[in-house]
Amino acid sequence: MDETLQMYWELYNELCPNELMIHKNHNPLRDFEDEFIEGPLLELGCGQSSFLVEYSKTGKEIFAIDNEEFQLQLLKKRIETYSGKEARKLHLLNITIPEKEIPNEIFSIVIMSDFLHFFTLENCSKIIDQIALRTQKGSLIYIKAHSKFHSYFKSQDPGMHEFYKHFFSETDFPKLFNEKYFERIMFSDTVQSVRSKFSREMEIKWHERVLDEYQVFDHEEREEELKTTKEETNVGYIQCIYRRR
Ligand SMILES: C[S@@+](CC[C@H](N)C(=O)[O-])C[C@H]1O[C@@H](n2cnc3c(N)ncnc32)[C@H](O)[C@@H]1O
Repeated sequence: MDETLQMYWELYNELCPNELMIHKNHNPLRDFEDEFIEGPLLELGCGQSSFLVEYSKTGKEIFAIDNEEFQLQLLKKRIETYSGKEARKLHLLNITIPEKEIPNEIFSIVIMSDFLHFFTLENCSKIIDQIALRTQKGSLIYIKAHSKFHSYFKSQDPGMHEFYKHFFSETDFPKLFNEKYFERIMFSDTVQSVRSKFSREMEIKWHERVLDEYQVFDHEEREEELKTTKEETNVGYIQCIYRRR
């Protein structure tokens, strides 16, 4: 992970304690909690997942996958703080998807939040095919990913498109989730044009820290650098939940 991105996640850890993180994260899985089946929970690209922290109190076994050790360690600390002894049911796996296989378990819930947009649609399809083999009737799969309405989609910067390999639209999902095995139970296509005060202030603070790190102290230069961070642009994302037939 790029050093500046690591600074973002460290700042997030500093400014966003567990209760606030869970409160701020819209979790559509809550609507289906009464129908959760037995079995472990998996998150791919978990970072400091608010879902895993929230569900660590359910007593479910948790498989948390990320290819950044510092994120896994921050998640572990969060879960230990939030649910104490239940944290012993946590498996932290430093794995790069899709190169390494998903653990050979049958999961009741699979979460991919802000993760699939790092892959081509072809690789997303390979990931979902593995998930089909590791779920059973009643398992739920939650996805949140950047949509084509995200301002980054129109970026002229090739680096942006190397980082975010795919921006989703509704028509992508029937290609990923075979109707024979999956039923779509929730879908939303959201465009947020103004950030929350918390997000805006956090992003500005992050950018200021990056400027400090690179020793950019000239007032005018800093203001010029911070201009785009202070501007509001569209954040477009799709959320959906599929249920395994
Ligand atoms: C944008 S963060 C999302 C974190 C969390 N799911 C959330 O919604 O807050 C993406 C996470 O995926 C991890 N990641 C990116 N590519 C990965 C890969 N190929 N395999 C495993 N983890 C990956 C990153 O290290 C990062 O922690």
